[in-house]
Amino acid sequence: MAIRIAPSILAADFTRLAEEADAVADAADMLHVDVMDNHFVPNLTVGLPVVESLVKNVRLPLDLHLGIAAPDLHAPRYAEAGAGSVTIHAEATITPVRTLRAIRAAGAQAGLALNPATPLEPYAELLGEVDTLLIMTVEPGFGSQELLDYVLAKVRRARAAVDRHRGFGRDVPLWLQVDGGVNERTIARCAEAGADAFVAGSAVYAAADPGEAVRALRATAEAARCRPAAV
Ligand code: DX5
Ligand code: ZN
Repeated sequence: MAIRIAPSILAADFTRLAEEADAVADAADMLHVDVMDNHFVPNLTVGLPVVESLVKNVRLPLDLHLGIAAPDLHAPRYAEAGAGSVTIHAEATITPVRTLRAIRAAGAQAGLALNPATPLEPYAELLGEVDTLLIMTVEPGFGSQELLDYVLAKVRRARAAVDRHRGFGRDVPLWLQVDGGVNERTIARCAEAGADAFVAGSAVYAAADPGEAVRALRATAEAARCRPAAV
């Protein structure tokens, strides 16, 4: 069962980003970078110049999570910068189809994120436009928050929608990602609900050995994904 683990550098030491990225390069699939603008979320992180440097200096593909207002204006530039994946928020985009297509046209995978209070159903029709559906398991903005367990019901509905969609002959992967409060205690619940892509910030970078923490998370998620679903 394919699993994707993306450590979030929001929990890393921002003065040593290249080393922090290197610490997980052999264990992780992607490096999650939260671009935050102090408008869409009440926090400010990095923008295009830092992303461009990371693209040049980090071995892992970047999984950009744009926690920004006006993603329709900015997302294509992040894709053109060489990111592996660019995720925009459903709550911030006015023209999701156009923007998701622009991201793909620039050579990146396209992702759509839903905040905890945003329903899945209006976006289920758009699954053909995305490579990643991100279900936020906390309100975006900060690391080290507790996973909101009730969001897992939406993850289950999203898994069913993704499987239905894949049943229609889709030949490229469609990842179901969770972000926020994912750690050794909670990742099995997320995987059992149907997630197959996991962002983990504090669970990885607060660990003594970040690479080992990624391997442990992967093993726990894989075991849970293989378990038959409870009826
Ligand atoms: C939160 C960010 C997350 C954050 C997760 O808004 O989108 O990517 O880094 O941090 P943890 O894993 O510590 O909850
Ligand atoms: Zn994130």
